[in-house]
Amino acid sequence: MCGIVGYIGKKQAAPILFRGLRRLEYRGYDSAGVAVMSLEHDSTRAHEHESTREREHVIKRVRAVGKIDELGKSLDKVELFGTVGIAHTRWATHGGVTEENTHPHIAMDGKLALVHNGIIENYRELRERLPAEVVLTSETDSEVLAHLIATYYEGDLRIAVEKALACVRGTYGIVVMHQDHPNLLVVARMGSPLVVGMGEGEYYIASDATPMLAYTKKCIFLDDGEVAEITPDSLDTYNLKDESVIKCVEEIDWDEAQAQKAGYENFMLKEIHDQPLVFQDAIRGRYNLSEGTSYLGGLNMTAEEMRRINRIVFIACGTASYATMIGKYAMERLAGIPVEVDVASEFRYRDPIIDENTLVFAVSQSGETADTLAALREAKRKGAFVRGIVNSVGSTIARETEGGSYIHAGPELAVASTKAYTNMVAIMLLYALQFGRLKRITLATGERLLNALDEIPEKMKQILSLSDQIKEIALKYKDYHDFLFLGRGINFPVALEGSHKLKEISYIHSEAYPAGEMKHGVNALLSPTCPVFAIMTKNQLYDKMCSNIEEVKARKSPVIALANIGDERVKELADDVIYIPKTMELLEPLLNTLPLQLFAYHTAVALGRDVDRPRNLAKSVTVE
Ligand code: F6R
Repeated sequence: MCGIVGYIGKKQAAPILFRGLRRLEYRGYDSAGVAVMSLEHDSTRAHEHESTREREHVIKRVRAVGKIDELGKSLDKVELFGTVGIAHTRWATHGGVTEENTHPHIAMDGKLALVHNGIIENYRELRERLPAEVVLTSETDSEVLAHLIATYYEGDLRIAVEKALACVRGTYGIVVMHQDHPNLLVVARMGSPLVVGMGEGEYYIASDATPMLAYTKKCIFLDDGEVAEITPDSLDTYNLKDESVIKCVEEIDWDEAQAQKAGYENFMLKEIHDQPLVFQDAIRGRYNLSEGTSYLGGLNMTAEEMRRINRIVFIACGTASYATMIGKYAMERLAGIPVEVDVASEFRYRDPIIDENTLVFAVSQSGETADTLAALREAKRKGAFVRGIVNSVGSTIARETEGGSYIHAGPELAVASTKAYTNMVAIMLLYALQFGRLKRITLATGERLLNALDEIPEKMKQILSLSDQIKEIALKYKDYHDFLFLGRGINFPVALEGSHKLKEISYIHSEAYPAGEMKHGVNALLSPTCPVFAIMTKNQLYDKMCSNIEEVKARKSPVIALANIGDERVKELADDVIYIPKTMELLEPLLNTLPLQLFAYHTAVALGRDVDRPRNLAKSVTVE
């Protein structure tokens, strides 16, 4: 939530900052702003000839309410020259969506500028410490921090930042600049991510690595409690005790091309279509067909430790939590290990039963979700093995777990998660197979699963080619106000995900239920105005699912069915059928979710929604 960008080097900063903000727009899009260190003629000596007048550095700032495009329009109207700058895209927490509340915030009559991602919990108390003459111009906690740094400033910007941060309770990723130090940025992190990309005589700073992919793949990831002083030619890192810290340079294996729309209308459609390819990236080199097993080396556990595990807990939020429900099915069926799935925001506030024989997986696309992070810290405290299943390379969850796997989905920039969900499921299936082969399943079962896994990308492509048919169905149903998604067994989490996608990007109310539960209350909703999306591919619960849908039909709800090619019976039950290829039951979610993503997508587009940036949401939920 909120994205920050900084640049210091020899190039013009404003275009780099603006482009960076576009990459980070998924983190928030209520308002955005840029500040650049600009060299200006001294205005107090306007009477002198231009050639003799002294030039001084001043911070110039442009801000705009609305999406990044609005900032672009404002930037077109001003000249913002300078090779050092900071920028921010906001997801409002403290204070409304106004230009005054938009970052960068300034202090010392415009001499100091700051961008901040996070929440300063004690900002009211800190406000009391500011000199009486300070006049706050916004309602934000961040502006208080800017003034606090200014209050401590005695000529050394880093020291002032450190002194101010020592008073702060809360989370922050900040970048600060000061007119007296035109070639310096000071950055600091506590709980909100900050990455520094390293170029030749230049540095890029951002909340994640995507804004810098076009310029460099070499990054350092700041850890909590670290402050760095950055000039075009140097990067010095310190901890909050002012001791020097040596950082490792890491290489990012994402491509700039992956972070582009590649001819698609928006990122969500591109990311849906990325799935056959990135699914292969997720599983490549991670299994051995002749041994019928998978090898996810990052697990960092001996076979003995793996055998000792008698309980697995998956913690995640939102779409990632639906992916973990599929992981539970797979792990219990293949490995026979009891699995608990917990929404991270609940897990952290109960007293979970966890011990040294429990393996906890924190599952997250961004790797920054505050609740998932807090839950994994709680699990660590209780002595469990804690591993990550994460997309964002170098993210906090990846760094704070003692191993795990990257899902290799590449940058996912649409707010609604699609390809990351699929790759999370893929990785959990591979883990289930790895534990399963160690504990109980045969070589033949392992081989069968891997062979079926190999066929998934082609089948995904077949499904994606149905996009136009799914669009027609979406156009037919777009004006309904309520939807039900029904599934059973492994398709219940698929129904949950389909329903989640529809509501988050189309704003249509929708719920998902296990079809067998309908009689216990939800049947009351059935009527001609409440369509049902039934996931009824042919697995062990197919006949039961047919009976449930008979009951739906009898109550006159329109039915859209997702079925396997060749299923004639379903035609009698459904008003519209989407036929897809068959796969092994355990792998069905890898295919069945795709038509639901397309259905949500086409419905949202038909309703004129901004599918990449749905209202009130941000992709990376770094606050509780
Ligand atoms: C839904 C969506 C959210 C995220 C959730 C967890 O499409 O994107 O529900 O799945 O906020 O985010 P991560 O996976 O980054 O922890």
